[in-house]
Amino acid sequence: MVILKSPSEIEKIRRSNVIVAEILEVLRQKTEPGTDTLTLDKIAEELALSKKAKPAFKGYRGYPYSLCASVNQQVVHGFPTKRPLEEGDILSMDFGVLYRGYYGDSAITVPVGKVSEVAQRLMKTTEAALFSGIEQATPEKRLSDISHAIQSRAENDGFSVVRRFVGHGIGKALHEDPQIPNYGQPGVGIRLKPGMVVAIEPMVNAGGYEVKTLEDGWTTVTQDGSLSAHFEHTVAITEDGPVILSTTDGGA
Ligand code: MF3
Ligand code: CO
Repeated sequence: MVILKSPSEIEKIRRSNVIVAEILEVLRQKTEPGTDTLTLDKIAEELALSKKAKPAFKGYRGYPYSLCASVNQQVVHGFPTKRPLEEGDILSMDFGVLYRGYYGDSAITVPVGKVSEVAQRLMKTTEAALFSGIEQATPEKRLSDISHAIQSRAENDGFSVVRRFVGHGIGKALHEDPQIPNYGQPGVGIRLKPGMVVAIEPMVNAGGYEVKTLEDGWTTVTQDGSLSAHFEHTVAITEDGPVILSTTDGGA
């Protein structure tokens, strides 16, 4: 069941997402060769608590950290570690908080120092695919118009979209209906309505779309070892179109 949000609820979801965006911005600035992702996890957790927000992922279905830190061929749900990041790595950081009863959720992929041309293209394309999806998040479109736009954008650049994980509604729960695949035919699924709030999150691989989850039960990597990027925004669907809530200005 899709839960529609009132303007005052959207305001609350905006607040949570601004906190997430501010923290991701700090993490982006701290990402450089020699930094380790366990340090970034600590920073994210402490910043959230200092803003009176609760890290949303820690303890969620037993996930042990505040931050998901996925390096290179890791697609999502990578565990933060003490291993120093190296020049040429790409790092996906997915972070969420619960603040005054509402969730925020966003992800970015950033370069560590200078990275390869294909890594740069992959990140650019994945973010562009996210924005193509967001463009479709407007009343009267259907759910799969988002999915189709993401897939087309990614595949046009010769990359593939991960099928295993989906975007989601968000509000008083981290994961609400609807599920939002990152691939599919256009014009299918529920009609989008003002008051829907969705987290759209394409994961794009440089090689094939197949992924596998490691024995830790979380870390998911590309089956062929190719690089993967992930971007996510929480977006409110309004009469005037999509409003991206997970930016430092809350889409104002
Ligand atoms: N953005 C991811 C999601 O919506 C983050 C979840 S990580 C988890 O699923 F640890 F909380 F599962
Ligand atoms: Co999410």
